[in-house]
Amino acid sequence: MRLHLNENTAGCSPAVLERLRALGRSDAGFYPDYDKAQEAVARSLGVPIDHILLTNGLDEGILAAAAAAFRDRTDGVPEALGVAPAFDMYEICTTALGGRMVTVRLDEEFGLPVDDIRAAVTPRTRIIFLTNPHNPSGVTIPLDTLRALARNVAPVLLFVDEAYADFSRETLIDTGAFAALPNLVVGRTFSKAYGLAGLRAGALVAAPATLAAMRRVVPPYSLNAWAAAALPVAVADRPYRDWYLAQAAASRSLLAGACRRLGVRTWPSEANFLLVRVGDRASDVVAALAARGVLVRDRSTEIGCEECIRITAGIVEDTRRAIAALEEVLCGAR
Ligand SMILES: Cc1ncc(COP(=O)(O)O)c(C=O)c1O
Repeated sequence: MRLHLNENTAGCSPAVLERLRALGRSDAGFYPDYDKAQEAVARSLGVPIDHILLTNGLDEGILAAAAAAFRDRTDGVPEALGVAPAFDMYEICTTALGGRMVTVRLDEEFGLPVDDIRAAVTPRTRIIFLTNPHNPSGVTIPLDTLRALARNVAPVLLFVDEAYADFSRETLIDTGAFAALPNLVVGRTFSKAYGLAGLRAGALVAAPATLAAMRRVVPPYSLNAWAAAALPVAVADRPYRDWYLAQAAASRSLLAGACRRLGVRTWPSEANFLLVRVGDRASDVVAALAARGVLVRDRSTEIGCEECIRITAGIVEDTRRAIAALEEVLCGAR
């Protein structure tokens, strides 16, 4: 069971698979057209089409935003600012593009130290990467805090990665907010709630003038024809998405309950995973779970995640099996 990458372990909606099966030789042979995918994504996020830039997964969106931000090198090596712990692609993209990653530590509860972030902004800071809900803890940042921070750090870009916002049902995406905050960029993915991780589809959402710099970075045919064909069907199949969100919510509380019984610490997650403090033998626990067919992510070497593993909370049936394996491993270790 793949409970280590926060994918939708049920896969994509059956309607998406049907659409993909109907694609033919010309779909493979011709360059893709994005009109329908852009329209569908814009409609589902409630913004005009010019506020959307489709990307080859949100990973490419992160790369494009950093590349656009780092074009301004007037003060030397450009900096990206982020938190620790965090999703690793912010640093990978920053350094790959010749920038420097500066991080501020989250507090013990994975709360955002807003004053420390503001204090860490320098004349070289070009972009701030935050994740809401946070990965790997699942803890959320109040939207008002993020809007106030965007106002405060302008013109530095505030990139809010909402990879897991489908699960928390809270988003900064709002046409009025983008008009008021031209330095705000929201990243979304269709890999998680929509189960399209293998197809690769994400989106950047921002004011049109802000997105213009990122459009210049993303290649013209970044998404393949299969991803472009899948998107309108995926976002239209609300019942499938809602079913998965309900599975993830139920799994989260089952897993949190099991951790309470086992006496191991978790944090209040609004995403499709839980960070669990299993103790100083975290890597042994990961290996023992793998031996029982349950893949989870070892986060224990990261700042603030000492002794922790991260477990995806998806399909309830999978979660029950994962809990049984976790009980066996943790009780056996005592
Ligand atoms: C916080 C965060 N952002 C972005 C991504 C990447 O998403 P995509 O599959 O769309 O590239 C992930 C994937 O794990 C993630 O956890």
